[in-house]
Amino acid sequence: MSKVYRVNTVNLLSKREMPMIGFGTYARKAEPGQYRQAVEWAIEIGYRHIDTASSYNNEVEVGEGINNKIKEGLVTRDQLFVTTKLWNDRHAETEVVASLKESLARLNLDYVDLYLVHWPVSTNSKGEDTEIDYMETWRGMEKCVELGLTKGIGVSNFNEDQLIRLYENATIPPDVNQIEINPTFVQHKMVDLCKQMSVIPVAYTPLGLISEARPEFIGKDVIKTDPGLGALAQKYEKTRAQIALRYLIQRGIPVIPKSFTKSRIEENLNIFDFELTTGEMALVESFNIDHRCVPANGFKGLKNYPF
Ligand SMILES: NC(=O)c1ccc[n+]([C@@H]2O[C@H](COP(=O)([O-])OP(=O)(O)OC[C@H]3O[C@@H](n4cnc5c(N)ncnc54)[C@H](OP(=O)(O)O)[C@@H]3O)[C@@H](O)[C@H]2O)c1
Repeated sequence: MSKVYRVNTVNLLSKREMPMIGFGTYARKAEPGQYRQAVEWAIEIGYRHIDTASSYNNEVEVGEGINNKIKEGLVTRDQLFVTTKLWNDRHAETEVVASLKESLARLNLDYVDLYLVHWPVSTNSKGEDTEIDYMETWRGMEKCVELGLTKGIGVSNFNEDQLIRLYENATIPPDVNQIEINPTFVQHKMVDLCKQMSVIPVAYTPLGLISEARPEFIGKDVIKTDPGLGALAQKYEKTRAQIALRYLIQRGIPVIPKSFTKSRIEENLNIFDFELTTGEMALVESFNIDHRCVPANGFKGLKNYPF
């Protein structure tokens, strides 16, 4: 049997532990069965945290992958940490519970571990602004916890002001703010704010410009070719991607890298056997250009556009 990796955990305000590495599942396109296969490989190699969303249109396959591994006896449901997200067109308080129930039906699960408000913006199904206050949405999220449909709730893509307002007015505080963080977009201000509130910042698109998926940023991606970073990777016998993930983990930030490639699914988990020095952390940090891979330009102009 191949190696199974163990992953450190972080404590959430809702008094549960979340594995520091989750398996991201968003893809612009996928072959039939590809999500299911990737989730199965991920669980086999040791991922216990899986990140999906209703908008990814993959909850059925992600749920199949999870349930197949539970049926095989490889894991139990309570060993897994599953996150899904509420889409922008279901922000009305009365819609939130219904939307999570639909996600659970697609996932074929009784509950999720974390339910996130995917974006602070609200729209109708045509993408037009409905200007629903995310505090209204949050009441629906809290109801999901009361009903036992999710163990915890959080947000994604909230800016500092939005997060503070939510935190100050919530009955149940958010466990996490899932946001883009990577070596070229280090987000110190937001990470510091989260830490003050004990809200966990979760890094999406953690590979940033190192990822091969981002050819549109050629010219900005010196981090892919820089010889100093190459030498650092060589020193630890790791890849640049592993150095990027390790940098985030050492800042105390959980990461959710996505891959459909079996070897990379393993590579992205294999980062707990080395430690970057302070100087090496600074080298990784020196590639910061405050550049967002996910600016969500399509939401610009909506009332609660966060960036
Ligand atoms: N909340 C939000 O609004 C939001 C937004 C974006 C993403 N997310 C979540 O965060 C997850 C991760 O973000 P992401 O998918 O945008 O970006 P990412 O995980 O940083 O990068 C994924 C891309 O990098 C490639 N890759 C994976 N491992 C690699 C490695 N070791 N070396 C080189 N390339 C590698 C993958 O290719 P292959 O698949 O071909 O291996 C894939 O194309 C998503 O899947 C999703 O779950 C959330």
